This record gives sequence, C-alpha cells and structure tokens, in this order.
Amino acid sequence: MRITTYYIYLTFFSLVFSSLVSSQSDSCASNLNLKGVIPFETTSLHCHPVWSSEDYTLRYLQTRPNIWSFVLSAPYTNAFVAIGFSTTGRMVGSSAMVGWVPANGVGILKQYFLGATNPAQVVPDQGNLQVVANSTAIVSQSSRLYIAFQLNVTQPESRLLYAVGPRNRIPSSDNRLVQHRDHISTRLDYTSGQLTTERPYTTLRRVHGILNMIGWGIIMIIGAMAARYLKQWDPIWFYSHSSIQLLGFFMGVSGVILGFVVEDSLNASVDRHKTIGMFILILGCLQVIAFLVRPGKEAKVRKYWNWYHYIVGRILIVLAVINIFYGIHVGDEGNGWKIGYGVILAILGIVGVGLEVRKWRKT
Ligand SMILES: *[C@@H]1O[C@H](CO)[C@@H](O)[C@H](O)[C@H]1NC(C)=O
Ligand SMILES: *[C@@H]1O[C@H](CO)[C@@H](O)[C@H](O)[C@H]1NC(C)=O
Repeated sequence: MRITTYYIYLTFFSLVFSSLVSSQSDSCASNLNLKGVIPFETTSLHCHPVWSSEDYTLRYLQTRPNIWSFVLSAPYTNAFVAIGFSTTGRMVGSSAMVGWVPANGVGILKQYFLGATNPAQVVPDQGNLQVVANSTAIVSQSSRLYIAFQLNVTQPESRLLYAVGPRNRIPSSDNRLVQHRDHISTRLDYTSGQLTTERPYTTLRRVHGILNMIGWGIIMIIGAMAARYLKQWDPIWFYSHSSIQLLGFFMGVSGVILGFVVEDSLNASVDRHKTIGMFILILGCLQVIAFLVRPGKEAKVRKYWNWYHYIVGRILIVLAVINIFYGIHVGDEGNGWKIGYGVILAILGIVGVGLEVRKWRKT
C-alpha cells in the first residue's frame, strides 16, 4: 500500500516536472554556438535572461560607434518571436524585429512598425530601426530560435518589448501577424546591464500568490500534520484538522478567484499554471465533499474512506507545492520568493521529521 502510494507521487512529480522543463534552454553561461551563420562577431556579447517565464535570452554589444549587435534567443514553438524598441515602453508607435520559420525551413526576419494594437496596423517592412544591410540572420537550432541583427544607431532605445505568437501558428505568406500570445515590457540599461521588468497589476498578482501559498501550500500542510500527530487527543485532532483545512481551503479559493482576475487583466497566458491550479481546486472540493459525507468511525468502509482522503490530500499538497514554485517562476518574481517559500517548507519538514520520530518512539 505504502509503496504504491509513493509510486503514484513519484509518477506525478516526474510527469509535471518534465512538462515544465521540456524546452531546450540557452544559458548565458554558455557561448553561442551557431557555426558561422550569424554575419557578425558574437563571442563577446553581453548576455541577459530577459523574460524568464518564456525563457528569452538577449545578447547585445556596441561593436562600433554607431553599430549595435543583437541576438535574441527563444524556445521555438512554431510561433513568431519578437523584440520591439519603444520610446514609451508601450507597443504602439514602436518598431520591432519579428522572426519565425515557415514549413519550408527558411527563416524569415522582418522589421514591423507597430502602429496600433490591432494586427491590421502592424505593418511588415516598415519601422524606425535602421537595420545594417546584410546583418540579419535567423537560425533554428536545438528547439530554439535565434534572431540576429545589427542596428545603426548612436544609442538604442532602452525600453525593450518582447512578444511571442500563438503556438503552432506562424504568419501566412502575406507576413501579417496575429495577436501575440504573451508579451512583456522591460527596460535595459545598456551600460550597467541592469534590467527591470515593467509589469502592471503587481499587487494583484502578489496577493494572488500569497493567498495560494499560505492557503494551499502552508496551512494545508499544517492541517495534515495536525491530523497525523495529534491523533492521541481525540476529538481535538479532528476539530483542529478540519478547521485548519477549511481555513486553508477558503484562502486558497480566494487565491484562485484572484488568479482569474489577474489572468483577465494581464491578458496573460498561464495555461499550465492554471491547469494545475484548477486540478488542485477540484481536489480541494473533493476533500470538502468527502469530509461532509464521511462514514461513521465504526463503519466498515471508513478504512477505505481514510485511504482515499489521505491520498487525495497528499496529491493536493504535492501539486500545490509544485504550482507555487511554478507560479513564482511564471510571475517572474525571482529567487527571493522561491527561497522564502523553500525555507518555510524546510521548517515544516524539520518539524514533521521531529514529530514523526516522536510518534514512532511512542508506538
Ligand atoms: C549608419 O548610418 C549613417 C548615417 O545614416 C551612414 O552614414 C553609415 O554608413 C551607416 N553605417 C552602416 C554600417 O550602415
Ligand atoms: C548585401 O548582400 C548583397 C547580396 O549578397 C550584396 O549585393 C550587397 O552588396 C551587400 N550589401 C552590403 C552593404 O554589404
């Protein structure tokens, strides 16, 4: 019984994990290895991860007084990849380099003028960027797309926009783009290399994150521990377990509802995070229903009910922990949040081990 349960966790873990890390990555720790396909020198470019949730990496360098080299790398999802240069930080009025690879395998890299958010006003082969003749290249390699170009400019715009098109939907032969799947607005200080991400609704996103983190990812673990380690005090364990879990559930549900608001107001694409979140919500509802219809203590089926309740609860917690870390990643919140939550988990883990040892000593 135990072994199969652990096996179920392991399978879940590896499935979810492999789907999260499936795309090939390009790290700033490694040099570009594009075998002479880029028509300019790429060895000493500065490198920054510029959009961690979409895994975009930008390399750049001022190579001559008025010549700036850029190489953007992104996972290739059969969608267009774009980098825009904006004076205001907004899409409208900016110019962008947009690339994709059609079915024939010959990549296309074009400048666009972004006249409005409406795709009809996004015009190919126009824009304010002075692209150096014969400096552009587009390469698809190891599931990543690299777009390279040089600009003839004294100082490029520091407001850089990035976008990615809908998956498996490359532009048709008229080169017209459809609405992007996701986008981000950043500011790059070319001298210091410092990068800031400008994202609206930060507070809303963080409240969503904190509610879910505390509800599903901390309180529910404490509630599960209450059921396991307070058993000798009946019925205290029962009331503490059910009230703690109910509190966690209500916080978690509020967090999920805020998640929908965030998704809607940011027009964000967070499909995996949302799918895992919905699954957690369903498991949470199942637990509440199971609690309401629990058989009496003496009933024969109570043993099976206990197993069911236990397994669903454990899967819920494992998925919640994964989705919290993944949500911090998707929200580009950086390592501080991951470390903070990791420390809380570690403390809960140490307390759990201590209580476990005590429990085994007693029995
Ligand atoms: C850059 O632009 C200036 C002025 O428009 C021009 O004279 C120069 O030749 C350009 N350099 C390159 C490498 O295209
Ligand atoms: C760009 O390439 C074309 C064709 O290969 C060539 O005719 C042209 O002279 C090149 N222009 C520059 C500025 O190198």
